[in-house]
Amino acid sequence: MNDEGRRIHVALHGASGRMGQAVLRAARQCDMVISAALVRPGSALIDVPLRQILGESVGELEFRAALDPDVTVDALVDFSGPHAFDAALALALERRAAFVSGTTGLSPHQLGEMHRASAAIPVLWTSNFSLGVALMRRFARVAARVLPDWDCEIVEMHHRRKADAPSGTALTLGEAVAEGRGLALDEVAAHGRCGQTGARPPGQIGFHALRGGDVVGEHTVIFASDDERIEFTHRAANREIFARGALLAARWLAAAKPGRYDMDDVLGD
Ligand SMILES: NC(=O)c1ccc[n+]([C@@H]2O[C@H](COP(=O)([O-])OP(=O)(O)OC[C@H]3O[C@@H](n4cnc5c(N)ncnc54)[C@H](OP(=O)(O)O)[C@@H]3O)[C@@H](O)[C@H]2O)c1
Repeated sequence: MNDEGRRIHVALHGASGRMGQAVLRAARQCDMVISAALVRPGSALIDVPLRQILGESVGELEFRAALDPDVTVDALVDFSGPHAFDAALALALERRAAFVSGTTGLSPHQLGEMHRASAAIPVLWTSNFSLGVALMRRFARVAARVLPDWDCEIVEMHHRRKADAPSGTALTLGEAVAEGRGLALDEVAAHGRCGQTGARPPGQIGFHALRGGDVVGEHTVIFASDDERIEFTHRAANREIFARGALLAARWLAAAKPGRYDMDDVLGD
């Protein structure tokens, strides 16, 4: 609910995509209203009722290429692509709406524009909306700070189609570890090992990427000393967890002041 006790209204950018549809499905189970479902200009879905794609229980909304001026928007949620991201950010700024984006592959310029926008509107961008991963980042940061001499390795596994390695989430976890130790990740990261590598240097953060099958995403952060070992593992079963996290972020952000936020803020204490 917003300050006036009205349900939070969310405009969804990238509504026709895999994540967009997951957000539309997740919205049916929460107390927020999807007030606009935005698709690519020229999309065959424009003016098609959402219920034709998602079933009966999504009301009378139709897919649109533009936001009608009379539509209420407390938060704009974006899961489109780097080419469409600028339009989403511009729309959020124009409507003074909170901006929640999970679009990956953004350029440094786009990240800079988002940072500038945060002077005027609340902004939250993350490469992983899972609450479990947000909590794991927190655990990793604390463990790294409390156990500065323990070796840290990060192992991730994804489906065979994933084109990049390590995953953005593995790097984010590595950044949390580096942050906990007051280090820059670039200076301590090691990606895989092969051949005569010599002994492991202290302070190194190792990354290992496994690929195979249809694994949605698994991440383990290992802290190892001579006599004991701690492992934090997160396993994602489906993309609904990202959709639910994005909606939770939208609800939280709709009540926030302009600024830059992350999922740690949404989790709270
Ligand atoms: N942060 C996270 O937790 C998280 C999780 C999963 C995915 N992602 C990221 O989210 C993004 C979307 O992923 P996805 O798997 O849903 O991809 P996808 O299935 O390709 O969906 C992207 C959608 O955006 C639409 N689109 C393109 N241009 C648009 C425009 N100008 N306005 C509105 N919609 C537009 C596309 O429509 P057309 O098909 O008609 O072009 C497509 O339906 C990617 O960057 C992905 O890496 C983030």
